[in-house]
Amino acid sequence: MRLLVCGGAGFIGSTFVRLRLREYGDEITVLDKLTYAGRRENLHDVLEEIRFVHGAIENPAAVADAIEGCDAVVNFAAETHVDRSISGPDAFIVTNMQGTHVLLEAARERGLRYAQVSTDEVYGSIESGSFTEESPLCPSSPYSATKTGADLLVSSYFHTYGMETVICRGSNNYGPYQYPEKLIPLMILNAVAGDRLPVYGDGRNVRNWLYTEDFGRGISAALVSGTPGEAYNCGGPDECENLHVVERIIELTGADPALIEFVTDRPGHDRRYSLSSEKLRALGWEPRVRFDEGLERTVGWYKDNDWWWEPIRAGDYREYYERHYGRALR
Ligand code: NAD
Ligand code: DAU
Repeated sequence: MRLLVCGGAGFIGSTFVRLRLREYGDEITVLDKLTYAGRRENLHDVLEEIRFVHGAIENPAAVADAIEGCDAVVNFAAETHVDRSISGPDAFIVTNMQGTHVLLEAARERGLRYAQVSTDEVYGSIESGSFTEESPLCPSSPYSATKTGADLLVSSYFHTYGMETVICRGSNNYGPYQYPEKLIPLMILNAVAGDRLPVYGDGRNVRNWLYTEDFGRGISAALVSGTPGEAYNCGGPDECENLHVVERIIELTGADPALIEFVTDRPGHDRRYSLSSEKLRALGWEPRVRFDEGLERTVGWYKDNDWWWEPIRAGDYREYYERHYGRALR
C-alpha cells in the first residue's frame, strides 16, 4: 500500500512505520509537526526508506503536499498526554479535532481509505468487565473528549459521505521510543537515575497494557480487513495496578523501593480501563506479547539506548517535569 502516516514520528506511529516497511513492504509518507513528542530520532533507522513531510495535520497545504500519491491515510497525530490536556487543553482541540477534520476532507476529496487511531479512554472508566464497541462514549478529560469528538467526526464522514473509514481504539501502550512523560518510561528512567517515583493517588488505578507492536498489528488488521464505518477495540492481554507496575520496574532496574512517593492525584483520574477485543480478533488479530515479557524488553531497551533519552531528560522535559511534579530531576 501507499500510506500517509500522520504522526509517524511519535511513539506508536514510528513503531507502525517500521512494522509496515518490514512486514508489508509499504511505500510510506510521514506527515508530522515534530512537537516535543515527535522526533526524527524515533525513525532514525528508516528515514532513508520513507518520505518525510514536516507539517501539521491542521494545515491543509501541508496535508495536500503529503497525501500526493497515497492510497490510504492512517492518523496517529495527536496531543496525547492527559496531564498536559488538564493544564492546557488548547492544542488538543486544534490537533485532535480540527486536524482530524482537515485530514478527513483531504481523504474524502481523493476517495481514500482512512484509519483513525483512537483510544480506550473514549469510553471512560469501568469498575468491572470490559467495554465493547457498542458501549456508550463517556470521556473524562480534555484529551479523551477531543479524541471522542474526532471519532464521532470520522463516523459522520462514513454515514454522510460514504467514506471508507475505520477506527481502531487501543488500550495503554508501552515499549521502546515512548516519551518519558508517560508512566512506564518515566518510572524506568527515574529508577535508573535514582529520582523519586511519583505515584498518583493510592496507586490502585488499573490499566490494560498493550505492547506497541501488537497495537501496530491491530491497526494494520483494521486498516486492511476492517469493515468501513466500524470501530475496533484493541486491548492488551494483561491488566495491572499502577503500583504493581512500579514495583516490577524497581525489581527490573534494581532501584531502591524507598524511591516510591505517593503524590497528589490527577484531577478526574479514571480508575480502570478495560477493552473487549473480540471484534478485532475475528479479523485474525491477537496480542503476541504478555506484559511481563514486554516490560522486561522495554526496560532493556531504555537501559541500552541512552543516546535516545539523554537529550530529552537534559532538555525542555526538565522544565515540564519541575512544573508538573514540583521537584527537579537529578
Ligand atoms: P505521541 O505523543 O508519542 O506522538 C504523537 C505524534 O503526533 C508526534 O510525533 C507529534 O509530533 C505528532 N503531532 C502532534 N500534533 C501534530 C499535528 N498537529 N500535526 C502533525 N503531527 C502532530 O503519541 P502516541 O502515544 O504515539 O499516540 C499516537 C496515537 O495513538 C494518538 O492518536 C493517541 O491518541 C493514540 N493512542 C495512544 C495510546 C498510548 O497508550 N500511548 C493508546 C491508545 C491510542
Ligand atoms: O489508555 C490509553 C491512553 O493511555 C492513551 O490514549 C493516552 O494517549 C496515553 O497517554 C495513556 O493515558 P494514561 O493517562 O492512562 O497514561 P499515563 O502514562 O499518563 O498514566 C498511566 C497511569 O499511571 C494513570 O493511572 C496515571 C498514573 N501515573 C502517571 C504518571 C505520568 C502516575 O501514577 N504517576 C505519573 O507520574
